Amino acid sequence: MSTFSPVHEETALDRVRALESEYLLQTYARYPLVLDRGKGCYVFDPSGKRYLDFITGIGVNALGHAHPRLVKVIREQAGRLLHTSNLYFHAYQGPLAERLAKASGLQRTFFCNSGAESMEGALKMARAHGHKINPEKFEIVALNNSFHGRTLGALSITGQEKYRRDFEPLLPGAHFVPANDEVALEQIVNHRTAGIVIEWIQGEGGIYPMSVEYARKARELADRYDALLIFDEIQCGVGRVGKYFAYQLSDPVVLPDVMVAAKPLACGIPMGVIVANERAAQSIGAGMHGSTFGGGPLACRVALEFLDILDGLLPHIDKVGCYFRAKLQDLQKQFSFIREVRGQGLMVGVELSFPGKQLVLDAMEQGLLMNGTHETVLRFLPPYIATEKEIDRAIGILKRVFKLAVKRGDARQN
Ligand SMILES: Cc1ncc(COP(=O)(O)O)c(C=O)c1O
Repeated sequence: MSTFSPVHEETALDRVRALESEYLLQTYARYPLVLDRGKGCYVFDPSGKRYLDFITGIGVNALGHAHPRLVKVIREQAGRLLHTSNLYFHAYQGPLAERLAKASGLQRTFFCNSGAESMEGALKMARAHGHKINPEKFEIVALNNSFHGRTLGALSITGQEKYRRDFEPLLPGAHFVPANDEVALEQIVNHRTAGIVIEWIQGEGGIYPMSVEYARKARELADRYDALLIFDEIQCGVGRVGKYFAYQLSDPVVLPDVMVAAKPLACGIPMGVIVANERAAQSIGAGMHGSTFGGGPLACRVALEFLDILDGLLPHIDKVGCYFRAKLQDLQKQFSFIREVRGQGLMVGVELSFPGKQLVLDAMEQGLLMNGTHETVLRFLPPYIATEKEIDRAIGILKRVFKLAVKRGDARQN
């Protein structure tokens, strides 16, 4: 008698998953994929299967993977000096801060290690700024549907209940208003407002751009009530939209008092920055803020190298981004469940009429990495080095995935 039983071969995914399920805080719902290495616009799993990386570690690997110039700098610096703390000087913070000042139009930088950490620092600046004027001036106005990070301060001004509710009470004095509603903004900002915080394009919230008029209104109100205008450029900044910073899409430019950026800045080596004008910078003096790791020589050198490369890439990002969105709009004509294609540069969202999770998994199966945000939005954050060739490849895969969704009847779920 045959005793056939299918033998389950343990995969790298099984092994990694089993160990993590035993020893990690279970905070992440990861996709079922182990990444092993990357080259250019592609990543590979342990079996060698290749994936076109159009999410880049949520907008971090801006130059793709294993970029030769970054590899060279990292190797060199690792053999020289990795960490100094901020007790001492090293050669790279000054030049990087100068580069950021020239690129942003804001004078002074503080270096830290992540997006949330930079937002925490910016909130401290707003608090300290308000405090100097009047202890009652501590309120922060932020937007519905925003995302500013997972630390308690950043969470307090994140306009999505699902992230906040398990940790309440959070910081007092946070107010939320609908984006792009100038009247609502005018009604809420007053003499108690210490800061107004805006993502120029909401990323995690589903790729929703701010209107220039709205940003101008925020600028005007911040000036009228002596509050700090803070732009969160963590996802939309540092080249992502074809400008150094997304607020530079406005003409004349609406400048914030404080800008925070992180993700792609050191292309995978953790780095966040707070960049402030002189007025805002005065709020924070010696001993009021600090970081052990912030602005280490490795991260600073990588960021300097990246910014050198980014200079020449900005027009390319704009051009390839337009091409990508045009191709997605062509798909929209063929698949009626695509409600909208949004974004700027290489920050792109596709709004579906049904939850996109299965499509993300299908695309992964077919060799394309993207992710889903806000249930029904497919989010793409391709590397800045992507060309029309990679876009065509992604579009080909998406077309197959969308056809599959039609066949399965996904679109009727709504
Ligand atoms: C706009 C925005 N702000 C803040 C953050 C938090 O950054 P981090 O995850 O580096 O703390 C993110 C992360 O996705 C973000 O997109």
